[in-house]
Amino acid sequence: MPDDASPGGTPRTKVARVAGLVRGMVHDGRLAEGDPLPSTRSLATELGVARGTVTAAYEQLDGEGYVVLRHGTVPRVAATLAPARTEAPAERAARPRSAPPAPAGPTARPTAVVDLEPGVPSVAAVSERDWRAAWRHAAAVPLEARYPDPAGEPALRTQIANQLALSRGFAPDAGRVVVTSGTAEAISLVTETLARRVGPGGRRARVAVENPGYRAGRRAIESAGGAVVPVPVGDGGMDLAALRAAHARERLDAVLVTPSHQYPLGGAMPVARRHELVAWAAAEGVLVVEDDYDSEFRHRGSPLPAMAALDDRGVVVHVGSFSKVLDPRLRCGYLVLPAGSPSCNTLPDDGTPAGAGILAARSGRGATVASVTQHALAHLMSTGALRRHVARCRRDYRTKRRIVSEAFDGADGVQVRALDGGLHAVLELDRIPAADLVARLADRGVRVADLQDYVVPGSGLELNGIVLGYAPPSATVLRGALRTIRAEAGSDRKP
Ligand SMILES: Cc1ncc(COP(=O)(O)O)c(C=O)c1O
Repeated sequence: MPDDASPGGTPRTKVARVAGLVRGMVHDGRLAEGDPLPSTRSLATELGVARGTVTAAYEQLDGEGYVVLRHGTVPRVAATLAPARTEAPAERAARPRSAPPAPAGPTARPTAVVDLEPGVPSVAAVSERDWRAAWRHAAAVPLEARYPDPAGEPALRTQIANQLALSRGFAPDAGRVVVTSGTAEAISLVTETLARRVGPGGRRARVAVENPGYRAGRRAIESAGGAVVPVPVGDGGMDLAALRAAHARERLDAVLVTPSHQYPLGGAMPVARRHELVAWAAAEGVLVVEDDYDSEFRHRGSPLPAMAALDDRGVVVHVGSFSKVLDPRLRCGYLVLPAGSPSCNTLPDDGTPAGAGILAARSGRGATVASVTQHALAHLMSTGALRRHVARCRRDYRTKRRIVSEAFDGADGVQVRALDGGLHAVLELDRIPAADLVARLADRGVRVADLQDYVVPGSGLELNGIVLGYAPPSATVLRGALRTIRAEAGSDRKP
């Protein structure tokens, strides 16, 4: 039954009916990838509906990945749709418009790898007009014979501060915002600061990390001279009793957490636990690094303010990134120095406040994100283009999240997690070792990650599951890949 049909098979709304018609034309091959869609006016006349109904249907199909809507260009069928891709252009040209495409034979090989490795956003919704305008603006900024401010271009720092005030519940002064080349560099700068403090005593800076957790974060800590201390997580994020125990065993210098959406298992840290963590960290002189990597995409429940918003002790370094909201290739993110920086003294056994130490580390490295990139991002933010882009992505990800959840409805031996936010899901497996499933899927052209790879090596934790990112593929490609995963996971077989 199509998504938009009621149990009796009747389309629920006019928009759904029009969307269903166009979707059907894509599925049966009457519309192929890259084909222009009928104009909204002509289709509305033909179907006897309002033009706005057709526009709304096209927007829905855009969100589902069937069509591409770009301002100022003709709407077209998306280029990533599987049925069109399996057919050579010559065969398509020879086939009458009304004839369905030839079914793939039993020996058909996957024509392309469907990459569901997590961590990558969809860039399909980027408005080309906004994107070009931002880079034109950046290119027009006059050249200057000077090195850039290592903390970042004031225009971008101001936009980031404004955005945090609007969406994350705290309003830092732009002077507390430091531009970094992504979350990885922010974590590295903090670790370098801590390593300088503890280095003379001969030990490495110790940073507690979530287990399972973000691999690149751990790598950043280790390559900046720090040591990671794994701490288990539950549904509400990091286990604070285990954190205290770890601190009692080996004095911690910092703790890295993803309180808005634990990576990768999902779940948010409740407010009471956030308060507890901040109070504990302040009392113990431990810095809290809040990795706020995908909080813009919360699909269930209302978004919680950032932990930095609760921080009245000056212990939280808030870290954000443009990697999920826009494009990881920009290599741009930011950190917000703890409240009260640079005069606060987060780590009492040393005279240097944490904020001042991080700024010193930043100055030592110099700027790492080109000024032109920062100006383009500042323009995307000041014009509202980034906000609009995020809103489009949110709609698209919600649709895809639903597709993931429905794909495993009633599936035996698979539990879906982490769908409360972001752009990835975790499938916990009962019937098949995850490593086998990852290999079998790779053979069938679907790339996913093994959940065990997120576990801190040597920690003894064993998890059996896979992690998949659902943002980049079209809805059709995603559905196909999920069917493959479900079949290979043994969920359709009787135990
Ligand atoms: C937990 C987590 N934090 C941060 C990031 C972004 O990192 P970066 O800004 O270095 O690209 C990601 C991206 O995948 C992530 O999964």
